[in-house]
Amino acid sequence: FDYDLVLRGGTLASAAEVFEADLGIRDGVIAAIGRGLRRGREEIDARGRIITPGGLDSHCHIEELGQDGTAQEESFASGSAAALAGGTTSFICFLPQWKGHSLAASAPGYAERARRSRADYSFHQIITDPTPEVLEREVPALVARGIRSLKVFLTYDPLRLTDGEFLQVLATARRLGAMVTVHCENFDAIGWRIQALLKAGLTDPLQHAWSRPPVVEREATHRAIALAELADQPIQVFHVSCEEAAAEIAAARARGVKVWGETCPQYVTLSHDDLRAPDFAGAKAVCSPALRDRAEHARIWRRIQDGTLDVVTSDHCGFSFATAKKAAGSSAYGTGAAVQRPDGTPAFNAIPNGVPGIETRMPVLFSEGVSKGRIDLPTFVRLSSANAAKLFGLAGRKGTLAPGADADLVLWDPDRETTITQSRLHHAIDYTPWEGMAIKGWPALTIRRGEVAMREGEVLAAPGSGRFLPRGPYALAAPSGRVPDGFDAAAV
Ligand code: URP
Ligand code: ZN
Ligand code: ZN
Ligand code: ZN
Repeated sequence: FDYDLVLRGGTLASAAEVFEADLGIRDGVIAAIGRGLRRGREEIDARGRIITPGGLDSHCHIEELGQDGTAQEESFASGSAAALAGGTTSFICFLPQWKGHSLAASAPGYAERARRSRADYSFHQIITDPTPEVLEREVPALVARGIRSLKVFLTYDPLRLTDGEFLQVLATARRLGAMVTVHCENFDAIGWRIQALLKAGLTDPLQHAWSRPPVVEREATHRAIALAELADQPIQVFHVSCEEAAAEIAAARARGVKVWGETCPQYVTLSHDDLRAPDFAGAKAVCSPALRDRAEHARIWRRIQDGTLDVVTSDHCGFSFATAKKAAGSSAYGTGAAVQRPDGTPAFNAIPNGVPGIETRMPVLFSEGVSKGRIDLPTFVRLSSANAAKLFGLAGRKGTLAPGADADLVLWDPDRETTITQSRLHHAIDYTPWEGMAIKGWPALTIRRGEVAMREGEVLAAPGSGRFLPRGPYALAAPSGRVPDGFDAAAV
């Protein structure tokens, strides 16, 4: 046999084009693409299927270990099963840093836990405490191990950096050729709004959105870009939720600044209405940046269409509802002290932030984007895998339909109409914010490095079969070479 597996007669969608061809796989990589390929040991009839690269979810929180000793409910085994069921074959999650601790002393054993993954994976290193020890010794060692991206928060009490600390992280990344990702919201503005809302007795989940309106995100996005420009360090702005923030990115890109924008399915499908659900169920939709008005959806779609927002991730960060995790106020992803309300539920500010969406990310994007005619298939591929691969140093290996790339593939049934419902999902969280949503287009088969990892909702890949993805130097993370007055402060 010439191939281990041949997918015959499918419609291939790459980041650039759509065409009919057979695809031959050998030793886990794509060996050939063309018509009339010779036989494989195994053959799959792909007629009527659309074949895209497997998804790369470059922003998800899996089994994060908190400073309070708790681990997030979503384990590497469950989170990666959910990923594969939804067409995502690799993801990038987060190595935490606990404030007051070195990287080595934070979340011990986390990288070892990740070995339980069924999908391929890498990490962004969160920096919450950029001491000289961390920046000069630990981060260089991390980059040498192939962990070539850092994440910083400009809000959340236990996580946020000051502008001065942020600049030091940017300069360190510059020297090492690492990408920096940023959570952009103004910490003090949110705190001020929260205090006023609580004082006014406004404590419902909806007030989570009131505590952090678009201007809070716009200001921090503007500031993050300005500081990145000052240090000449490429950044990606995480989870852009509104036109105001997207416009900052577009304006900077037009000036030649190396800044990219990410958004998530929740920001084009969910809204304030979900925060208003009765019986505290609005807590299920609490995430940051907050959900906006429905009118914002069309503006975000336009920024997806014009390329300002060129990566769609899940920002999967699950806290179950019935087990009261969403109400416990114990996560780092909340803001300020918990205030109990008369019925025992917490005020909005103590609800841990985040929604679970690693499994539904690609189907929702396919259905709302491709099936509804908002984006074409190559754009879908760029948003769901190819651009993230470029941005984080995995191009050529992931997000690519070309000989030599890993054989990570999704066979879509583009006409299948279904409804999202919790009972059919594989994640460890007890709800989905997309419950009842009608979807057109569903992944029938997921192939990870040449192996059938999911067939018709059944996950076949075993825990531990995923591989760590080390990342080497790449051009996109390189600086632009432009610094004010020709003085390169980051190089000193
Ligand atoms: O609400 C969110 N997004 N939770 C996850 C943590 C983060 O800010 O990305
Ligand atoms: Zn964030
Ligand atoms: Zn501005
Ligand atoms: Zn996140």
